[in-house]
Amino acid sequence: MNSPVQIDPKAHLGDVLNLDRYPIHALDSDAGQAMLAEARAGLDTVGCCCLKGFVRTEALAAMKAEIEAGYDQIFWSGNSHNPYFSLDDDRYEVGHPRRHFERRTSGFFNSDLIGLDSPMTRIYDSELMRQFVGQALRDPDIYCWADPLGRNPYGVMKPGDYFPWHFDGNAYTVSILVQQADEGGVFEYAPDLRNPEDECYDDVRSVLDGDRSRVQQLPLKEGDLQIFKGRYSMHRVTEVVGNRNRYIALPTYTRDPQTVNNPERSKQIYGRATPLHWERAALAKIDKLSD
Ligand SMILES: [Fe+2]
Repeated sequence: MNSPVQIDPKAHLGDVLNLDRYPIHALDSDAGQAMLAEARAGLDTVGCCCLKGFVRTEALAAMKAEIEAGYDQIFWSGNSHNPYFSLDDDRYEVGHPRRHFERRTSGFFNSDLIGLDSPMTRIYDSELMRQFVGQALRDPDIYCWADPLGRNPYGVMKPGDYFPWHFDGNAYTVSILVQQADEGGVFEYAPDLRNPEDECYDDVRSVLDGDRSRVQQLPLKEGDLQIFKGRYSMHRVTEVVGNRNRYIALPTYTRDPQTVNNPERSKQIYGRATPLHWERAALAKIDKLSD
């Protein structure tokens, strides 16, 4: 009788992730529990945590090479959008957050371009990774996102580019900084600005109008992993300054295995909507937010 094949997680993921420092393959160990406690502390207090040097340098180099090899397939946006990626709606008064549009200049290397042998695929397909992110978020039943374009893309910003204030369409976003800008390109966020029951438009408007009292900055370095509740915390990336592009990998997890971006949001961010986006647009969402 054949014995079951044993897969050594360190052999499988160890050349991509720094498992000695971040033992996601041994969450029950003392080191695994300490790592989870630290991540949860950040998520509980400010809706965000950062694990320094999570991804190995060689894997970052391969991800950067993947982006630059497919650079001409990046979808670049120069459109304006509001924090919800919805169309203008004159049923709301001028100055309302739904009518607050800022110009976004950034690109996406969509998920359907990412290679099977990419470190990005190794990370995103990893059950250990999904379990770790779920445990850190205290939401063990999270899923990899069904969206074929937005599930694990790279975000790309050139010098001069700016990504305005917005909420994410998915519950949880994981970010890995692949290449840092010379200056700028700083992630800013306002934790828990809305909740599943309430858009909290007054609070959103105050941040859009320049109130910095609830705004935090996260100084990410190359290889750092960030876990973030992007559906409830409004966020932006400040203008990239200098000569280097900013590259960020965005493996995305969600609480629902079926819903995807609505077609309008998909077109604005990823350049198109697929038949799946239209087919699933009618599915009921699991919260009451406009998007
Ligand atoms: Fe976002």
